Amino acid sequence: MKEDKKPYIILSAAMTMDGKIASKIGDPELSDEDDWKNVHKLRTEVDAIMVGKGTIIKDNPKLHIKYYEHKGYYRIVLDSNLAIPLNSNVITYKSNIYPTIICTTENVSLKKIKKYESKNIRIIKSGKGKRVDLLKLMPLLFKEGIKTILLEGGGNLNWSFIKNDLIDEIRLTIAPLIVGGKNAVSLVEGE
Ligand SMILES: NC(=O)c1ccc[n+]([C@@H]2O[C@H](COP(=O)([O-])OP(=O)(O)OC[C@H]3O[C@@H](n4cnc5c(N)ncnc54)[C@H](OP(=O)(O)O)[C@@H]3O)[C@@H](O)[C@H]2O)c1
Repeated sequence: MKEDKKPYIILSAAMTMDGKIASKIGDPELSDEDDWKNVHKLRTEVDAIMVGKGTIIKDNPKLHIKYYEHKGYYRIVLDSNLAIPLNSNVITYKSNIYPTIICTTENVSLKKIKKYESKNIRIIKSGKGKRVDLLKLMPLLFKEGIKTILLEGGGNLNWSFIKNDLIDEIRLTIAPLIVGGKNAVSLVEGE
């Protein structure tokens, strides 16, 4: 994809020495406070933070900034069928500073869209397939003025970005841990 049509994408993650970004029962403590400070610093430098539906359901992150003064950015969630709970932190927490965009597909009903829009969520539709079409989505986000995105996982979304050759930079923290487990999410999932 032409660089003048897509945001610059930085993949950021903390993983174990065996490449896991969570244990099979959820998110292990992979980052210490210094690492969180680095991640939050990086968040100050981008226009948007992006995560997949799985990360919202499993971790319910706020995707905010601690440690630094900042005027905010977009939070972007990829959710093909509009299924994240309406009481998720990305919907309820400080939406005046971190407005949330949910990217979904053409398949979702207007009724569903209205439910989210009533919570001040912006909906962007991309593609008619089972999942959000990333190649169509990139120019749409770019047109919205989103020039830099910090992609914060999880493993399935990371894979889709890599498969579509959309990653420009990778920032990894490698924790001195081995968790194992075939059901633990890896930095890159997919087929
Ligand atoms: N250590 C770290 O740095 C870090 C960072 C983030 C997350 N995590 C961990 O990662 C785990 C979640 O990872 P995950 O792989 O289960 O979920 P994920 O990658 O966060 O979300 C995947 C989901 O996003 C939706 N999606 C929509 N369009 C997509 C597309 N084009 N490509 C891929 N997915 C798309 C799909 O659900 P629908 O089809 O239903 O829309 C898909 O199942 C959590 O345990 C979390 O703790 C760790």
